[in-house]
Amino acid sequence: MFTKTAKHYDAVYSGKDYADESKQLASLIRKWVPEAKTLLDVACGTGRHLEHLAQNSGFDCTGVDLDHEMLAIARERVPAAIFYAGDMCDFALDVEYDVVACLFSSIGYARTVERMNRAVANMASHVLSGGILVVEPWITPESWIVGKIHSSTVETDEFVVTRMMVAEPVERGRVVFEYMIGGSNGISRVSETHEMGWFTHLEYVSAFKKAGLTTEHIQPGLTGRGLYIGRKS
Ligand SMILES: C[S@@+](CC[C@H](N)C(=O)[O-])C[C@H]1O[C@@H](n2cnc3c(N)ncnc32)[C@H](O)[C@@H]1O
Repeated sequence: MFTKTAKHYDAVYSGKDYADESKQLASLIRKWVPEAKTLLDVACGTGRHLEHLAQNSGFDCTGVDLDHEMLAIARERVPAAIFYAGDMCDFALDVEYDVVACLFSSIGYARTVERMNRAVANMASHVLSGGILVVEPWITPESWIVGKIHSSTVETDEFVVTRMMVAEPVERGRVVFEYMIGGSNGISRVSETHEMGWFTHLEYVSAFKKAGLTTEHIQPGLTGRGLYIGRKS
């Protein structure tokens, strides 16, 4: 996870247009659940979507994430939202929401089909009748290219981060990130291993069906990876 680099996460993903994604998501929600008011973002990270969904779209927002460092940043960013620490597979909030979302491929952290089924069922159990579960999937098996390297460099007033990422040859995907972080104290190096799992279209559809949701897969979704939208009857 991003525990060691949480304070650099927003800079690393500064090219991602959270404002536009949140606007698209809000308009999609208005189509599916016109009266929607409450929204839960599972694996909310540093709260970048929630910031816009709360401030610009007027949702009552809640976030869940496993990582306390990410949550600390989210709490500061979106004081109007409520945040809880929890695992997508078994968090239990005792509240149901009009919309539950799991964005930016965070579902990949479920890693195995069995855990992805549990995560979808658990998230669905937090959806109000008539509400929706929205999951933005991770990459497809076809686009998992072992050994593929990505790299990026970002500069802020405080630090420079260069990150390289390699896709490792484990069954459903392990991603290793190597960071070089330069600041006023010099340059440090940080390694992170993200144990993840890609899932097939049929595996997602089956998980939604088992969770009792009527499902649609829409393309291109918010970022080109599509979206699974399941309605609870
Ligand atoms: C790629 S980041 C996405 C964060 C945020 N949704 C965004 O769009 O920036 C993945 C997030 O999933 C969280 N995460 C990983 N495993 C998790 C789990 N089992 N349950 C809940 N959150 C998890 C990480 O801590 C991280 O914040």
